[in-house]
Amino acid sequence: MNIFKSSADAPKRAVAEAALAHVQRGAVIGVGTGSTANFFIDMLGDLRNQIAGAVASSEATAQRLKTVGIEVLDLNSVNELPVYVDGADEINPDLHLIKGGGGALTREKVVAAVARQFVCIADESKCVDILGRFPLPVEVIPMARAHVARELVRLGGAPDLRIGFTTDNGNSILDVHGLEILNPIEMEREINQIAGVVTVGLFARRPADVALIGGPDGVRRVTARP
Ligand code: 5RP
Repeated sequence: MNIFKSSADAPKRAVAEAALAHVQRGAVIGVGTGSTANFFIDMLGDLRNQIAGAVASSEATAQRLKTVGIEVLDLNSVNELPVYVDGADEINPDLHLIKGGGGALTREKVVAAVARQFVCIADESKCVDILGRFPLPVEVIPMARAHVARELVRLGGAPDLRIGFTTDNGNSILDVHGLEILNPIEMEREINQIAGVVTVGLFARRPADVALIGGPDGVRRVTARP
């Protein structure tokens, strides 16, 4: 066993375990994408007989859910999604997020939009006062790449094409460096309006409802500042 890897993973495991308390028995659950979400999926396997199935935010998550014996449902067939559990790349005190480091931002945003409660799980390195140090992912239709990149430069960013990466929806990702996102709700709206943008990885109009943050002293439960 690699003890260095396992100690670095301890906060992720801890928040994944804490998120199990949010799982509603008998209901469908929304499940996100990434290394933290993977810990949650593996633990959720033990509850497979107590849930009605899961909606996945990516093909990778769907595959992992099936591996642990959880039925994966099409979001279109689900009327109610009480809870969505997912990680994040950055979290501010309003629980606005940057997501999409793993490239699953579009499906993540759709599942978050449907869910009644969005539970974000992350280690404390993801907490920031101002979003933007993590390059902001923007999913774009391939033919609009150059146009969207020019518009993002106009907004003060430095977009980089994520080389060799295609999203589950067949699109490209621009990772936008150098943004200091002082008004996440406004920036989300502005980037969403650029022709050719599928999704921006800012989750501000629909933030997380609760964040479970893992650190050396255990798991902190955080709600947005009043
Ligand atoms: C994937 C995401 C992930 O939630 C985000 O990248 C965090 O991943 P990890 O838990 O591996 O740090 O948005 O698109």
